[in-house]
Amino acid sequence: MAKVISYANQKGGVGKSTLCIQTAFYLAIKQGKKVLVVDMDGQGNTSSRLAPRQTHEDGSFEPILSGTKTADLFKDSVPEIEVIKCPSGVDLIHTPKNDPDLFEMEAVPLDQAMNPAKNMAELFDQYDYVLIDCPPSLGRKLVAALLMSTHVVCPVKLSGFAVDGVEGLLRTIVGIREGYNNQLNILGIIINDMDRSVNHDRSLKELESSVPDLLFKNKIMHRPPLDFAITEGIPVWELRYGHVAAREVEAVLDELLAKVG
Ligand SMILES: Nc1ncnc2c1ncn2[C@@H]1O[C@H](COP(=O)(O)OP(=O)(O)OP(=O)(O)O)[C@@H](O)[C@H]1O
Ligand SMILES: [Mg+2]
Repeated sequence: MAKVISYANQKGGVGKSTLCIQTAFYLAIKQGKKVLVVDMDGQGNTSSRLAPRQTHEDGSFEPILSGTKTADLFKDSVPEIEVIKCPSGVDLIHTPKNDPDLFEMEAVPLDQAMNPAKNMAELFDQYDYVLIDCPPSLGRKLVAALLMSTHVVCPVKLSGFAVDGVEGLLRTIVGIREGYNNQLNILGIIINDMDRSVNHDRSLKELESSVPDLLFKNKIMHRPPLDFAITEGIPVWELRYGHVAAREVEAVLDELLAKVG
């Protein structure tokens, strides 16, 4: 059975998509696993980074998006789900850029948030790993993602409010596990985009005392090559000057995959 991992945090810009995409590359390219990425975020950034591209003469590109889109999964039934085969070897259920249909799903009744899990059950059997990139909110799309997940991981960027945010997120996740999905495992919190400022240090100490068991041992510092790799849609270890970033990312992914088992 596929391991289904959601990347969740209601805050934007903490590294959900970055870690989701790099995990997909790591599993598919380095470990030869069969991987499906589901882009649950109406912004559609992950889709444009993973999908095949049509490149123009000036170097700009357009993603070539086809098949079933994530918003379709919320319908009562989907006759056939068609994924995109990406150049990295990863499969993708995509979201077009700023898809109004997916934004609308944020307010659907709870019943309808259960549809993606029902519609995808059979497809999931074809994969080793399914990775779900969640939107920055605690609404129905996050619920839909958690209902079909076996695991959830929370990337966190340190700030004065990090602890409050994490507590709210954990309440939502535990609520879903207790009410609807008792197979959901909380993998923990990955500190990402950290620096050595006094502010980050203080925020880290607060997290260490409020959720000590949930923090990953390995952390990812602020590493511009990681930003570059994600913008280009390539594995961070392919960058010649990206070895420090790659080492940190790989340590975190090894820790994550060991927890998934
Ligand atoms: N460790 C890091 N060092 C440097 N830049 C990073 C790091 N992690 C993420 N970034 C950059 O920060 C930005 C936000 O990251 P990302 O898109 O992964 O966050 P997100 O949680 O998915 O945001 P959203 O909720 O808006 O989807 C991106 O431009 C990404 O490249
Ligand atoms: Mg994102």
